[in-house]
Amino acid sequence: MYDDNATLLGVKKEIDETKQGEVFYYDPPIEGLKKFYIESYGCAMNFSDSEIVASILASAGYGPTRDMESADLILVNTCSIREKAEDNVRQRLTIFNKLKRQKPEVLIGVLGCMAERLKSKLLEQEKLVDIVVGPDAYRDLPNLLAKADDGDKGINVLLSREETYADISPLRLDSNGVIAYISIMRGCDNMCSFCVVPYTRGRERSRDAYSIVAEAKDLFDRGFREVTLLGQNVDSYKWSSPDETEHVNFAQLLERVALVHPDLRIRFSTSHPKDITNDVLYTIANYENICDYIHLPVQSGNSRILSLMNRTYDRDWYMGRVNAIKEIIPDCAISSDIITGFCTETEEDHQDTLSIIEWADFSMSYMFSYSERPGTPAARKLKDDVPEIIKKRRLSEIVEKQRHTGLLHNLKDVGKTFKVLIEGDSKKSDQEFKGRNSQNKMINFPKVNGFRPGNYVMVHVTSTTGGSLKGNIVT
Ligand code: SAH
Ligand code: SF4
Ligand code: F3S
Repeated sequence: MYDDNATLLGVKKEIDETKQGEVFYYDPPIEGLKKFYIESYGCAMNFSDSEIVASILASAGYGPTRDMESADLILVNTCSIREKAEDNVRQRLTIFNKLKRQKPEVLIGVLGCMAERLKSKLLEQEKLVDIVVGPDAYRDLPNLLAKADDGDKGINVLLSREETYADISPLRLDSNGVIAYISIMRGCDNMCSFCVVPYTRGRERSRDAYSIVAEAKDLFDRGFREVTLLGQNVDSYKWSSPDETEHVNFAQLLERVALVHPDLRIRFSTSHPKDITNDVLYTIANYENICDYIHLPVQSGNSRILSLMNRTYDRDWYMGRVNAIKEIIPDCAISSDIITGFCTETEEDHQDTLSIIEWADFSMSYMFSYSERPGTPAARKLKDDVPEIIKKRRLSEIVEKQRHTGLLHNLKDVGKTFKVLIEGDSKKSDQEFKGRNSQNKMINFPKVNGFRPGNYVMVHVTSTTGGSLKGNIVT
């Protein structure tokens, strides 16, 4: 999920609904503690990190609140992926700063990718920011806060080759108690030419497999029924025990988590097409509780553009992986990320992207106009030469193609019956539940007595609204 006004189609995601970022809170706030308020932007990794931050702050005597005005500490966990994402954060900082003028004792902190990208510049540009903390430095928060309380600006943007926060139990603050994220790796060693993530998140490192399985087990014991294993490139997960006697790759990790309990569903994000192995696909096929859904960002359907993007695969390779998925996991839904208007993209290149959406039959995609990011290989070596107006037009053509492809995808589900995990009340009515099937499609259906969030039910799909499905519980 990305929430810098990304164009979203297909299955609706919870967090994308709010352009303000997600607010984590405890209701009621814990009495007697100092209170922090946090907003998170960007990808699921950032949302997951905010839960780690909440846990670290709790141990430093800070309890969470959803009320910004009563907070002693206001944090914003930021994203740098596109210019728009940073603009959104700057707007929020203006609002926090207004509050600080009225209440000078409140501390304001910038966390995450923008903190890492801009470092001390943030303290210079945003005079009312007190602390700046990069994604690998959250353990230092209590120390930086103590300094800030004494009037010193605190900054720690050191990236680490080891930090995975493996021993920190995230505080699941704004949770429905049914689904949760588990971070399995951090950083990214791919150098996609358009992407700022390798610079903001540092080198790839994988978390101890035992701590991941233990977290999944703990979540299951607490009633959670679905976990999403998170990383920028989960397929390159690779962990070795300290004595080097045990090596766990992503397929093996998936299996270990699947074995926690047959009623615990497993999802994962994101897979890089160059790394997704047949071993991973067979593991998904072998376990009913590993969902038949793969987010496999293509970025472009044109091989020349893919090469300029340094994605290290071409159109044929991508199609080969999609064919392998369809052969090994016939019911698997595939979704994508797409960038339009990348440097030198022609109309023909754009047509290749349109055609691959249809060919691969994406159930949904996140679609973006290319946004040049300072310091990336594309910014240094290529000209951002597709005019904004053309980017916009191509994006709307892509959005339309995906809308149509997604609708046909959903229409094929009408008349079928799916196993659905109930997540809570539907958006529209407290008389209806919402839940997803294995293919990650959101389905709304009338409540039936005796069922509650966390239960699995069989739902017969009767119609689609385009973005989601409607149905009825069958027994
Ligand atoms: N690690 C994931 C993606 C993380 S960023 C992967 O490789 O698939 C999420 C998405 O943002 C990317 O897939 C890409 O589609 C988009 N994105 C990244 N940098 C961008 C940029 N400079 N301009 C526009 N979109 C970008
Ligand atoms: Fe960015 Fe590429 Fe890494 Fe994804 S794989 S985070 S797009 S560099
Ligand atoms: Fe944004 Fe950082 Fe995620 S740049 S997409 S929050 S890794």
